[in-house]
Amino acid sequence: MSQLAQVDLIIKNAKELLTLSPSIKDESGLGIIPGGAIAIKEGKILWVGKTADLPKQFAIDSHGQEIDATGKVVMPGLIDAHTHLVFGGSRENEFEQRIQGFSYLEIAGKGGGILSTVEATRRASFEELRSLGRRRLDRLLSKGVTTIEAKSGYGLSLEAELKILQVMRALQEEHPVDIAPTFLGAHTFPKEFKDERRRYIDLLIKEMIPKVAEERLAEFCDVFCEEKAFNLEESREILEAGKRYGLKPKIHADQLSPGGGAELAAEVGAYSADHLEYVSQRGIERMAEKEVTAVLLPGASFFLSMKKYPPAREMIEKGVAVALSTDLNPGSSMTESLPLMMTMGCLFFKLTPKEAIQAVTVHAARSMGREKEIGSLDVRMKADVVLLDIPNYRYLPYHFGIDHVELVVKKGRVVYRNKYSHQ
Ligand code: NIG
Ligand code: FE
Repeated sequence: MSQLAQVDLIIKNAKELLTLSPSIKDESGLGIIPGGAIAIKEGKILWVGKTADLPKQFAIDSHGQEIDATGKVVMPGLIDAHTHLVFGGSRENEFEQRIQGFSYLEIAGKGGGILSTVEATRRASFEELRSLGRRRLDRLLSKGVTTIEAKSGYGLSLEAELKILQVMRALQEEHPVDIAPTFLGAHTFPKEFKDERRRYIDLLIKEMIPKVAEERLAEFCDVFCEEKAFNLEESREILEAGKRYGLKPKIHADQLSPGGGAELAAEVGAYSADHLEYVSQRGIERMAEKEVTAVLLPGASFFLSMKKYPPAREMIEKGVAVALSTDLNPGSSMTESLPLMMTMGCLFFKLTPKEAIQAVTVHAARSMGREKEIGSLDVRMKADVVLLDIPNYRYLPYHFGIDHVELVVKKGRVVYRNKYSHQ
């Protein structure tokens, strides 16, 4: 009286199945199952274990499939916890100026920088932004990314910020990659408020945040807390206002100068503090105490040729969870390659390959409050899975600048196949 259990998808024979599950204690710290298999039903993980132990009663649905991962690595879909996905225009001219020796801040002072992208984004139509965003999501997916956080912040007026967040909503409806939207109206002061900072902060607090919350367009509220952008008091006021409207706080903190951003992140109960090149000792301790995740962005250090790196080892030793993200944006990190960030995280910030993998899975999920749904392969979690054509997990940061992704499963469906894949 064998009872068949219908499943939609089985991936089996993985050389290494990285579960990232805290329930599997192994030497690697990644919860690896050698010869691993995973069974998926209705978008969720039904079973994880050794291929040899796959329950005999599993029967694949007529629309379903079985994938052989012999010799390869299977792991949770990657999570990019800090992107500026929706923007118009591009800034390759600044790239060239920086090669000639001009600094990021000098270029911003001459009318380039964030404000030039604000101009281009305001000019762009909804459909243009949607098409640009779609292509970026496709590229992220091809690198194994199944969930991202995406910030507004290149509109800086009520109308343009709403346009960006609505583009994200439309992209969420059409694209398999999940998007956690963040309102970053406090990215910088728009030129029309250059000499009226207070009026812009009032606009953010009294009009933009309430409207964004009313339309349910964002889950998080972020602030660029920096001498040249929003100071500590302004940042606190904006994040507290966001909280009153149900927006969870995040902070761009201590990127270009030490400013107490990490301490503020702990004080307001932020999900993450991001960048942190100039974080203080006290800031690290407070983040550990309040369990604020550090989202580090090696692409920005690399792209801006900044020699100052965040003290990642110290943060890890003090108990701060460290995530790595692309910071995808046209000025300081024009890339969709999260695996490349892993290589840089290892070489610049001295993360081990194990820590780099945790940084784009469990820790990235935590920085978005989604660790119960994504970031590890456990029963009942979302079936977001990547199959990589590499012999072991260390290869992912080691063999760099290469597409190792063979296929990507999102909520139980194969949504991407590398054209060279034999699956
Ligand atoms: O995360 N830090 C602020 N914002 C971006 C850069 C934005 C830009 O240059 O367009 C960042 O690095
Ligand atoms: Fe950023």
